[in-house]
Amino acid sequence: MTLIEVVLGDITDEIVDAVVTAANESLLGGGGVDWAVHQAAGPRLAQAGAAIAPCLPGDAMATPAFDLTPPVKYVIHTVGPVWDGGAYGEADTLASCYRRCLQVADELQVRSIAFPAVATGVYGFPPASAARIAVATIRSTRTSVSLIHLVAFDQATHDLLVEATRTEDLSR
Ligand code: APR
Repeated sequence: MTLIEVVLGDITDEIVDAVVTAANESLLGGGGVDWAVHQAAGPRLAQAGAAIAPCLPGDAMATPAFDLTPPVKYVIHTVGPVWDGGAYGEADTLASCYRRCLQVADELQVRSIAFPAVATGVYGFPPASAARIAVATIRSTRTSVSLIHLVAFDQATHDLLVEATRTEDLSR
């Protein structure tokens, strides 16, 4: 049984086994949540990322969490789709991000994971549909992860994620 909880806050404060960052293909870090995670994990994160890059859109790759506060052991880097109007497979790519992150988490025997709202910042994915995709994909993916935090950095995203968890319930 997997518990999904929506949390409002900074993902670097999360007390989980693995933290997901919304990366770019280089895994060298960037702005937004990627900046925060790299700041907290320290420079070794970019070095480890560079050693396994590129990470293609929709894929996910893990590195150690380095200086992130324990119990966080892993950073799972995922690259979301750049929103280009919706007719170029962006929804499928975003779903793939969540699915691949859970697959990587299972390979690492992770039991708790925190996701940011992947692709809804710099990459411009509409947050309401991104929230629905996140919840629907997580709920349709078999995983041994028992606790999933969907971390919103702002109240609007938080409310959309809460709504998505309620709506998806009704459609089950
Ligand atoms: N904790 C949790 N969520 C955060 C944090 C944080 N510290 N900082 C930002 N966010 C939220 C944003 O508000 C947004 O809702 O993460 C979500 C994703 O936004 P971005 O970080 O911009 O990620 P994305 O849209 O996927 O763009 C990725 O931006 O930072 C670069 O290197 C990154 O090139 C990549 C691109």
